[in-house]
Amino acid sequence: PPAPACTLVIFGATGDLTHRLLMPALYNLARWKLLPERFAIVGVSRKPMSSEDYRADLTERVRGFITARGTEAGGGFFDAATWDGLVSRVSYLSGDLADLETFARLKQHVAEVTGQRDGGSVLFYLAVAAQLFGPTVRQLGEAGLMREPEGAWRRVIIEKPFGHDLASARALNREILTSLSEGQVFRIDHFLGKETVQNILTFRFGNGMFEPVWNRDHIDHVQITVAETVGVEGRGRFYEATGALRDMVPNHLFQLFTLVAMEPPISFAPEAVRDKKQEVLLATPPASPDAVVRGQYRAGRVQERTMADYRREPDVAADSRTETFVALRLGIDNWRWAGVPFYLRTGKAMTHRDTEIAIRFKQAPLALFRGTGVEEAIENWLVLQLQPDEGISLQFGAKVPGPAVRLDTVKMRFCYKDFFKVEPSTGYETLIYDAMIGDSTLYQRADMIEAGWRIVQPIIDAADRDPVPYAAGSAGPREADDLLARDGRAWRPLGDH
Ligand code: BG6
Repeated sequence: PPAPACTLVIFGATGDLTHRLLMPALYNLARWKLLPERFAIVGVSRKPMSSEDYRADLTERVRGFITARGTEAGGGFFDAATWDGLVSRVSYLSGDLADLETFARLKQHVAEVTGQRDGGSVLFYLAVAAQLFGPTVRQLGEAGLMREPEGAWRRVIIEKPFGHDLASARALNREILTSLSEGQVFRIDHFLGKETVQNILTFRFGNGMFEPVWNRDHIDHVQITVAETVGVEGRGRFYEATGALRDMVPNHLFQLFTLVAMEPPISFAPEAVRDKKQEVLLATPPASPDAVVRGQYRAGRVQERTMADYRREPDVAADSRTETFVALRLGIDNWRWAGVPFYLRTGKAMTHRDTEIAIRFKQAPLALFRGTGVEEAIENWLVLQLQPDEGISLQFGAKVPGPAVRLDTVKMRFCYKDFFKVEPSTGYETLIYDAMIGDSTLYQRADMIEAGWRIVQPIIDAADRDPVPYAAGSAGPREADDLLARDGRAWRPLGDH
């Protein structure tokens, strides 16, 4: 059903996130008839501009992102009627977020566009630089915009990065929670908007045959990989101060980590699910710096494309110590997982784009096939492939036809697109819709954010050394292989779908 009547206020309305993801997501929600019937969008940014000019500018900029995404996913059309219907609900307000007066005008503006004196329900989206999160929320509070009118709600979506270490994340939570209640805060992690990430839960808990073996008795170890082929792509200023660890690990990789490791929740209610995810983080000891590898890419070729040395990217220091790759080993001290290593890795400029969770099962207890020459080689893997092609594969041993008993490795593979019509989407659709209906299941709670930072804090504290180099277009530094080799294990090859 369509979301209830509300206004969406976007701070950072002329920014890349708004053009590339938010507006295309709203366009999709409009196509799917999930937007409220009474709905308005207010863009707020510093640049002086009329609403009319803003609408024209949006139309020009967003169209390309809608069609591009469609093409990539096999669709590829721009429905002018849907877009016109959406953009006709958009208005613009220019103002400085440091200025309380901007928020007084915003209050007035929302009352005008909604025709409601109290402004009704409002969702504020902070698509602004991270250092503005705290101050903007404070202004919203001071302007009285977070007070919920009778029968209406006020909510804030906060983008990542949420803090840059444990202390700053705590401080930001404290600051935000002086102006609003936890129930009003929606901390986004766009990985949770991905269908395939949500599907981890249905796969595990909607089926009877996987959970019984989903534990230390049967699982040898787990590998979580988010490999990207892209480099820094002009985001040098942001990336140089952030690095692969902060950019990806306590947020995106930990979503995959907690979903794969959590206990079954008693229901799919937001707190039931979030409590179980949080328990995983609480049971995970802080990373040990000697089980961490930080890497930085050097010039190389990534799939036919020449990539410059990271240190030669614009806005990157010539002696930069920022990592573009990180691999680490974690463990979970609980009944289900004690002794099972979880290896996590993520990097830019790698050989393949590949996001997957790979579960390696223990060897069969008895080498019945001794002497056949292959028994040691049979590896049982269950791989949840999340990007680029969504699917699940199972690798096991089978008998090679013939009179002799010989085993070989075979693979069974399920592809989403063989069974479902996958609509081209940004991943933000579900998240925006959920915030409108007040479902916070796919959002981060204050304590989850802090628990994530606590685990990676020792890596941040020990990051004053040069990362090890790896060639762009490789699978990461050799040291990352050594990390697993020390435990008698090896990474799965990238792009091996
Ligand atoms: C973002 C990071 O949060 O996630 C980027 O800042 C990264 O550096 C991106 O490329 C990956 O997301 P996706 O959806 O492209 O896999």
